[in-house]
Amino acid sequence: MRKIPVGAFIPLPVAPIVLVGAMVDGKPNFLPAAFVSGVNVDPPIVCISLNKHHHTYRGIREHGVFSINIPRTGQVVPTDWCGMHSGKDTDKSGIFATFSGTLENAPMIVDCPITCTCRCIGEHREFAMDTVVFASVEEVHMDENLLGPDRTIDCMKADPLLFCGLENTYRSLGSVVGQGWKSGADHHLCNQL
Ligand SMILES: Cc1cc2nc3c(=O)[nH]c(=O)nc-3n(C[C@H](O)[C@H](O)[C@H](O)COP(=O)(O)O)c2cc1C
Repeated sequence: MRKIPVGAFIPLPVAPIVLVGAMVDGKPNFLPAAFVSGVNVDPPIVCISLNKHHHTYRGIREHGVFSINIPRTGQVVPTDWCGMHSGKDTDKSGIFATFSGTLENAPMIVDCPITCTCRCIGEHREFAMDTVVFASVEEVHMDENLLGPDRTIDCMKADPLLFCGLENTYRSLGSVVGQGWKSGADHHLCNQL
């Protein structure tokens, strides 16, 4: 493989796109975000990176809570639309039916198969363009059809919408090519250990 330097940018080919939800001025508001990551397994902590001028961020600052909703591929149009319009100018509260968990002011989307509520922890870390928010995951809500025996989860049934920032496309999940902490056991170096 011959590689060439191509500049400095975020080279990740794919990320799940999430809809971040917050209550702003008493109304649910949602924005799609690709900058989302898990940062600690137990207790579950995530981070999202948001432009501090976004309307959604105002709600997060005010209430200290938000929701993360994983849209299906079939929700690509309303998801992208939310990224093309700001709640500052357009009322986005009617675009998704919402429900609440035990955490107030963290509206979740009924039609997203995986949703959760999050509570902000610590200081928000400001960078030149985006601000990183760390949050504990309070409560995950999942479509019961995703759950198999022994609490296994079938991700294919969630049909998550993926965003390929390098090519500016949305894609769907592909086929299974291996298993975590298992496929590596086939490597010849493992057999020598
Ligand atoms: C595919 C896609 C990914 C995006 N990812 C992020 C992100 O990670 N962080 C962010 O602050 N904005 C992101 N945006 C931009 C916001 O979603 C967009 O500016 C939105 O309209 C802000 O809405 P609001 O002002 O109502 O909060 C993304 C937009 C799209 C279309």
